[in-house]
Amino acid sequence: MHRKLGIGVCGARIARNHIYGYKQIEDVDVLCVAGPDVDRCRAVAEEYGVPRVVADYRDMLAMDDIDAVSICVPNRFHATLAIDALNAGKHVLCEKPLAVNAQEAQRIVDAARANNRLLMVAFNNRFSANTLALKEVVDQGTLGPIYYGKAFWLRRHGIPGFGGWFTTKSISGGGPLIDIGVHMLDLALYMMGYPEPVAVMGSTYDEFGSRGLGAHKGWEATDLQITNTFDVEDLAVGMVKFANGATLVVEASWAGHQEREDDLGIQLYGRLGGARMLMPDYQKADSVRVFTEADGHVGDFAPSFIMDDEYSREIRHFVECIQNGTESLAPGEQGVTLMRIIDALYESAASGREVRLDVPGQVEEIVG
Ligand SMILES: NC(=O)c1ccc[n+]([C@@H]2O[C@H](COP(=O)([O-])OP(=O)(O)OC[C@H]3O[C@@H](n4cnc5c(N)ncnc54)[C@H](O)[C@@H]3O)[C@@H](O)[C@H]2O)c1
Repeated sequence: MHRKLGIGVCGARIARNHIYGYKQIEDVDVLCVAGPDVDRCRAVAEEYGVPRVVADYRDMLAMDDIDAVSICVPNRFHATLAIDALNAGKHVLCEKPLAVNAQEAQRIVDAARANNRLLMVAFNNRFSANTLALKEVVDQGTLGPIYYGKAFWLRRHGIPGFGGWFTTKSISGGGPLIDIGVHMLDLALYMMGYPEPVAVMGSTYDEFGSRGLGAHKGWEATDLQITNTFDVEDLAVGMVKFANGATLVVEASWAGHQEREDDLGIQLYGRLGGARMLMPDYQKADSVRVFTEADGHVGDFAPSFIMDDEYSREIRHFVECIQNGTESLAPGEQGVTLMRIIDALYESAASGREVRLDVPGQVEEIVG
């Protein structure tokens, strides 16, 4: 008899968006929520009618009727949980960032290959309707080759869970760059065709967090998260050069003196046209604008789309890839490339030098 695809979910916060998405699909059953904060997991399970709750995710991985898991736990634990899940024969949808560094991310990719299971990174912004509309424009060649991109997510007061795992490098892997910058960096790379990075230069600053400033109001660390540590950056900026000659500038902050609470989006410069997408303006018809010229006349336009829940579209894509045996739009390999860039940016910020990615292990100063 045909049985539904069985899902297990690790975690109890952003995990709710995953559970909601799975619940929209007929052929899928969410069977278990796993997490050490059992009461929080139980509350989520009750809300969504999930029958089982376990404290230890390994008990969930031992369940034969679970085919795939969503990993929605602090970054440090992504690699352990994902590799254990893949070795247990489960398909994995892992929250961003894929891991706290490229080495761990690569180990997850290797485990997916060794076990012949699907590994997808939960880059939800790739599945929002405005992203889909812009990607279609890019794929049609309207911009031509993209030689320059900008990716930015800058918050004014946005340090999450102050003194919690987000602000503790050993658990998070870093600050706003790895937490929110990663989303826009991924979007820009996705539009640019994920070119091979060859060199990275970056700077990081901690001007707010260590002074106890810049907290996101209403985002307190839970008991499970408290570390009372702030040892990450609160602003990161970097430049990435690619093998195809393109360049990308990324900016990410949790706190900074700026006009808006949240400034996020991407900007693309192509030989035939340009585009910008502002993500906080999600619902606005012109959150995506394309800039072109024909015969010396400006021909800008705003591709149309209707916003909906991008998490549900992301989850549906994951399920369809499992059901059809197809590769996902957000494969683990791209999660590794992203982490190579982020690792290099942090390394460059620490050393004050350019980090070359085309010559393994070599660190060079910028010439000229
Ligand atoms: N895509 C998005 O929009 C988005 C938004 C927020 C967070 N995230 C990502 O999702 C992940 C979880 O973030 P969150 O905000 O839900 O965190 P959180 O701390 O609020 O919740 C994490 C959950 O992980 C579980 N957990 C904690 N420690 C664990 C351990 N040692 N082993 C197993 N499970 C453990 C707990 O059940 C906890 O509820 C992070 O990687 C974060 O970057 C993504």
